[in-house]
Amino acid sequence: MDREIQFNLNGNETTVVIKDHWTLLHLLREELGLLGTKEGCGSGECGACTVMVDDLAVNACLYLAVEVDSKKVVTIEGLASADGELHPVQKAFVENGGIQCGFCSPGMIMSATALLKENATPEEDDIKHAIAGNICRCTGYVQIIDSIRKAARAEEGDTVRVVAWQDD
Ligand code: FES
Ligand code: FES
Repeated sequence: MDREIQFNLNGNETTVVIKDHWTLLHLLREELGLLGTKEGCGSGECGACTVMVDDLAVNACLYLAVEVDSKKVVTIEGLASADGELHPVQKAFVENGGIQCGFCSPGMIMSATALLKENATPEEDDIKHAIAGNICRCTGYVQIIDSIRKAARAEEGDTVRVVAWQDD
């Protein structure tokens, strides 16, 4: 059955007609052309498809598109500012070797961003817990955890920017 939904996508009010069985991943990639959100396993195992819905990290491959009606969705495309400046978490991944092949990176960065919105000063265990559902085949995770820690703590003031960014 076709259904019209309205939601905020990366800061833009968006109206789309969807089918009830579509996943959010299908809607984003196949219908809206937002290819930054990756499809890995398609079954909730790898985290490559992670996006934020109302500030919480979710697996878009398991999340029905109909469920984003009236909600706020942020994908990797929505993190950088309008002038192209990278989000602090993106910068930290680039600067600290958190990205190698990059396939896991959008999902990993979305999980990290959701964590830092909830907890601006995470301990290492908090970081590990937040990215437990995100599989990386390249980095060994050390650089990723380091990147997330530095995104939160690298400079005085960065923590506030990370937390506030999505609401600007
Ligand atoms: S593609 Fe969604 S968890 Fe792997
Ligand atoms: S950087 Fe290659 S899978 Fe994570």
